[in-house]
Amino acid sequence: MNRLFLSLFAFLVLLGGLAACPSSSVRAQDLSRYPIIPWPRHIEPHPGAFPLTEATRLAVSDPTDGDLRAVAEAWADRVRLASGLPLPLADAPVTDAEEGTVAFVLDPVAALEAEGYRLVVTPASITVTASTHAGLFYGAQTLRQLAPVAIERGGLVRGADATAWEIPAVIVEDAPRFGYRGLHLDVGRHFFPVSFIKKYLDLMALYKLNRFHWHLTEDQGWRIEIKRYPKLTEVGAYRKETLVGHYDNQPQRFDGTRYGGFYTQEEIREVVAYAQARHITIIPEIEMPGHSLAALAAYPELGCTPGPFEVATRWGVFEDIYCPKEETFTFLENVLTEVMDLFPGEYIHIGGDEAPKARWEQSAVAQEVIRREGLADEHALQSYFIRRIERFLNAHGRRLIGWDEIVEGGLSPTATLMFWRNWNEEALHQAAAQGNDLIMTPNQTLYFDHYQGDPTTEPLAIGGLTTLEEVYAYEPVPASYSEDEARHVLGAQANVWTEYMKTPQKVEYMVFPRLLALSEVVWTDRAARNWFAFRGRLPAHLDRLNVLTVTYRPLDR
Ligand code: ACM
Repeated sequence: MNRLFLSLFAFLVLLGGLAACPSSSVRAQDLSRYPIIPWPRHIEPHPGAFPLTEATRLAVSDPTDGDLRAVAEAWADRVRLASGLPLPLADAPVTDAEEGTVAFVLDPVAALEAEGYRLVVTPASITVTASTHAGLFYGAQTLRQLAPVAIERGGLVRGADATAWEIPAVIVEDAPRFGYRGLHLDVGRHFFPVSFIKKYLDLMALYKLNRFHWHLTEDQGWRIEIKRYPKLTEVGAYRKETLVGHYDNQPQRFDGTRYGGFYTQEEIREVVAYAQARHITIIPEIEMPGHSLAALAAYPELGCTPGPFEVATRWGVFEDIYCPKEETFTFLENVLTEVMDLFPGEYIHIGGDEAPKARWEQSAVAQEVIRREGLADEHALQSYFIRRIERFLNAHGRRLIGWDEIVEGGLSPTATLMFWRNWNEEALHQAAAQGNDLIMTPNQTLYFDHYQGDPTTEPLAIGGLTTLEEVYAYEPVPASYSEDEARHVLGAQANVWTEYMKTPQKVEYMVFPRLLALSEVVWTDRAARNWFAFRGRLPAHLDRLNVLTVTYRPLDR
C-alpha cells in the first residue's frame, strides 16, 4: 500500500473509532482536562487516557532523520527525567499508531499547514503527525502540556511519587494563525547571561513562539563581540554607573558602580543553535542611526562632533547618533557582515527609531550628503541611510526590519516595518499603501515593560498600564485594513525594554503571565479566543511555571 492509501485507511479506522465512541458523550466541561495554551484550532475530547508505563515505546517515522529524532527525544527526555520510565526509541520506522507507542510521524503528504500538526491520543497509543519538523515540535509541546505538571521538574522526587503518568485521550488538529510569533529582549539597558537567554527561549517554545528579537546594542551598552572592532565591547559594553530609581525622580541619583557585559561570538553561536533546536529564529538588532552612544564611546570618529562620548548612564533618547560619513557606512557594513555570519535567519533588524536630527542639522558632513544626494532634509537623509543599509543586506540575501520611523521620508517596499507607535496611524496607512510587511508591537498593548496592576503596589516600572486581559484582547490586524492588506501583517511581538528590570526574576515577573495571553493572540484563530476560557486554563499553567521556577506575577483576585 502506498502512503496515500495508508493515510486514507488510517482515517477510515479513525472515523470508525469516533462513531463507536462518540465525542458528544464527553461533556464540554471535560475540556478542563485539556489545559492547552495557546488554544488549538480544533480539539475533540475523548474518554480514557494513555498510560505511560515501563512498557511504553518511543518511535519515529524515520530513525535516520536526526532532527526528527531530536523532537521525539526532547519530549521523551522530560518524561524520562521526571518519571524514571525508559521510553526506549524503536529502531524500526513507524508510519501510524502502534499499540503502546508514542509515535512522531513526519508525513510530507499530510494535508497540514507548515507549522501545523495532528495529535491523536487513545488509550492504546499516541501519534503526532506533521508535514514539517516544526509542526511535530509544536505537537510535542501540546503533548507536554497534556502530561502531568511533574513533566517539568527535570528529576525524580524523593520517596513515593503520586504522579499519575497518563495523557488524556483527545484528537487535536492545529496550526497557527500567524507565522511571526515574537518576543523581544533588550540586553542593552541591563545584561542577561546566556543561561537566562536559554530559559527565555525554552519558555517561548513551550508557548509556540518562534521569533526571538534580540536587542543587542544600545546607548547604555554594546553587547555583541565584533572581532574587527574590539573596542565595541572593551569600551562600549561597560558604563561607569547607572541611574537609581525612576528617571522622573529629581534630583537623579547614580549608583557609582561600573556595569556591563557582552556575549562572545562563541556564546552567540551556542544560543543560535539552542534556538534552532526549539524552532525559534533569532532576529538580531543592531541599532542605527540612533541609540548608538556606546558605539560612539568606542569609536568617536563615527559621530558628527569630535566627542569624547560616554556610554550612557541614564535612560532616554540622546542627540549623539552615527554621522552619515562613508567611514560610518564601512563600519556598519563590517559589523553587519559579522552579524550575518552569526545569525542565519533571513531578517536583520537595524533599529531606526528615535534618532534626533540635531547633530545632522549642524554637521557639514551630513549637509554635504543631503546636497550630493539631492535630499529634501534630515528625514530624507535618515531614509537614505536606511535604504543604503537595506541594499547592503539585500545584496547578501537578507531582509531588513526597522521600527516604524523608517517609513518617514520614504521606504523601500521590501523592508518590513515593526509598528510600535500606536499613536501614529499614518505609518499603518503608508505601509498598506506601499505593500510593506508589518510586525505589530504596539506600545499601548504589547510593551511588557508597562505596569500590569496598580503602580502603588507593583514593583517599579517605566509607566503605562497593560493588564493581562488587555493583552488577551489585542487584535493584530488593524480594523481599517482590507483582506489584501491584512496579508501583510506577519504577526505580533511583545517588547521587553529593561531599564527597570535588573534581574532575570524581574524580567520573568513582567513577561509572565502576559506572554501566555500573547501566545493565543498570535496562534489561536480569532473566533476561538475566549478570555474566560483562557482564564480557566491559566491556573494549570501557573502550576507549571512554578515547577519551571518562573517568577510570574500572581493573578488578580
Ligand atoms: C521603541 O520603543 N523605541 C521602539
